[in-house]
Amino acid sequence: MQLNALNNISLELTRTTDLDALLNKIIEYAALIVKAEAASILLLDKKKNELYFKASLGKKSKEIKKYRVKVGEGIAGWVAEKGKSLIVNDVAEDKRWNKNIDSSTKFKTKSLICVPLILEKDIMGVMEVINKKDEEYFDKNDEEILNSFANQVVIAFRNANIIEDLNNYFIHITEILIQAMENESLGPKGHFMRLARLATQIGNKLGITGKDYNNLYYASLLHDIGKLKVSRKIDINFKEKDSFRLVQSEISLHPISLHPIIGANMLKQINLFKDMIPIVKHHHENYDGTGFPEGLSGEEIPLASRIISVVEDYTKIIYNTSIESPSENGKAFNKLFSLAGTKYDPKVIDALKEIIKT
Ligand SMILES: [Fe+2]
Repeated sequence: MQLNALNNISLELTRTTDLDALLNKIIEYAALIVKAEAASILLLDKKKNELYFKASLGKKSKEIKKYRVKVGEGIAGWVAEKGKSLIVNDVAEDKRWNKNIDSSTKFKTKSLICVPLILEKDIMGVMEVINKKDEEYFDKNDEEILNSFANQVVIAFRNANIIEDLNNYFIHITEILIQAMENESLGPKGHFMRLARLATQIGNKLGITGKDYNNLYYASLLHDIGKLKVSRKIDINFKEKDSFRLVQSEISLHPISLHPIIGANMLKQINLFKDMIPIVKHHHENYDGTGFPEGLSGEEIPLASRIISVVEDYTKIIYNTSIESPSENGKAFNKLFSLAGTKYDPKVIDALKEIIKT
């Protein structure tokens, strides 16, 4: 039973990234195995030197969450201060016991085990089980079991910290890359952000959710990253031409046409970006198969790439300073819309039209 529970928790640790759900599961198993009425995980707020309830189980589990415990006060506070486990089978007899929370919640604590949560020599909180069932007493064996569960809690936090660090790294590295692209005049300030916002609005309309939604967002930000490695001069010359009027042979012969492949190769080096590689690689494919680099058509082209293709050209019209009158602008938009079914996926164009209307 005990081993089974610990195995289940270890498995959950590798599966779930939902820390709260995991902690609730851990205290649920802990209480079940040591036959306790209630259980809690309290974390240390270092600034205030107080413990607060992160997870709790039992009749007063919701009510208890508003309370805080000063380090050094009460039994939990003592364990957090000393970093030592404690078994107390009659709290009324223990001088460290602070009955304030019990009095307010009208819960009667009789016995408990409290163990510290220690992450790399730092106390990060405590875990406790309360009131042994069936008139029994908590013993050393229960304490050992609780310490095993406490280790699982610490691992869960360490994993959560790693995930947070990775996400943080991912977001900041993306920001740095966008800055580099903007500094290289690949787009005006804020261009890639606006482009990504419109792309995800379209994605939303087309039912893209979860991980795919995130991939669409980040791929939209970084789709032109390959241009950092293609000479800027080449790109500027290329931009001067009307991209709608370029014929296939002209595009495929042009060095700038390598930027989707170069970009995909750049992202290949970073594991976190791996799901975006096909999106970046195919953002210049045309719906009718006349695009580059592989001449994919229709549904063969990743949906996110089909969206970026439309959004990229749409934002080009918006930022084209040579277009002065609204009628010229209208003409450019109509030209873009008329390419639904040839250059662009018709349902992406429909979604864009709907967004523009609102
Ligand atoms: Fe591009």
